[in-house]
Amino acid sequence: MTVRHIGLEECRQLADGFSKPYHANYFAMYSSLFGGVVTHPFLMMVPVDDHMVHRGDGVFETFKCVDGCVYALDRHLDRLERSSRALHLALPASRSEITEITIATIRTSAVRDCLIRLFVSRGPGGFTVNPYECPATQLYLVTTTLHVPTEEEYARGVSIKCSSVPPKKPYFANVKSCNYLQNTLMKKEAVDAGVDYTISLDEQGFVGEGASENIAIVTQDGVLKLPSFGRILKGTTVSRAVEMLEEPGARGRVQAISLEDITLTDAYNSREVLIFGTSFDVIAAVRFDGQSVGSGKPGPVFQFLHERFESDVRQNSAMQTPVYDR
Ligand SMILES: Cc1ncc(COP(=O)(O)O)c(C=O)c1O
Repeated sequence: MTVRHIGLEECRQLADGFSKPYHANYFAMYSSLFGGVVTHPFLMMVPVDDHMVHRGDGVFETFKCVDGCVYALDRHLDRLERSSRALHLALPASRSEITEITIATIRTSAVRDCLIRLFVSRGPGGFTVNPYECPATQLYLVTTTLHVPTEEEYARGVSIKCSSVPPKKPYFANVKSCNYLQNTLMKKEAVDAGVDYTISLDEQGFVGEGASENIAIVTQDGVLKLPSFGRILKGTTVSRAVEMLEEPGARGRVQAISLEDITLTDAYNSREVLIFGTSFDVIAAVRFDGQSVGSGKPGPVFQFLHERFESDVRQNSAMQTPVYDR
């Protein structure tokens, strides 16, 4: 085997032939290192000496743009700030600059619908574990295809099972850091088992969250129960769902809302199990560990929230950041 030295000129030729099927899902990337937006997948790179690459030392957010408006951007930036504070990571741009970068990157993508992934990294600087060797934090933002379930998929619901992956300690569970090993193992577990999501259980056996989703149950007497946020990531979607259920127009949809420990027995015996996440908003889990949940079909609380999210994402101007001139 010959291992060649490749120079910059040859890299140009490599870039020309650098095309993989999955690149079709990538639209554009902003890099603070480049100071602008690139669209060639060969340039959608993070240097290997960025501590986000070799130590997971960074934080991220995922949010969506639907019909030309970014949904719940402020809430995602609030969480980005909280996560960055927890890792003592200075944001390399102000909130308004991050908003401008987001809008510019989506405009360069020339799409009205996409998923945006924003990363704040410790930055390049060396390969040790010491974050102080990195002179400046960096911001990377990529726009990708937004995959949303079809109405048939929403109507069918999803299957879930308990995860055997040990959960994160509360401090780290509350930070959306780039160290998502437990989460990726949970997703692998789900795919391997042929279910849609796996759900973590904490040390006491209480229900936690999915790999990148929150869970809530509706009990037989109509109470919406959510696991307390101390030990899991506080999702923007489930938080918005709680607000929707507290609106006057939602009176009677649930009897009460409570944040409390949920046992597996509570979950198995519930009327509805709901899964929340940015890309799909809410979906009903109709099978849990091989058993039917409630009637085995998405229930009325799911249906109410599904419709409310549909109008919230598309029509609630207070939650939308327009990308294009209307
Ligand atoms: C571990 C984890 N839990 C829950 C969620 C759901 O959060 P959101 O509703 O803000 O997408 C996410 C996704 O960001 C996550 O990564």
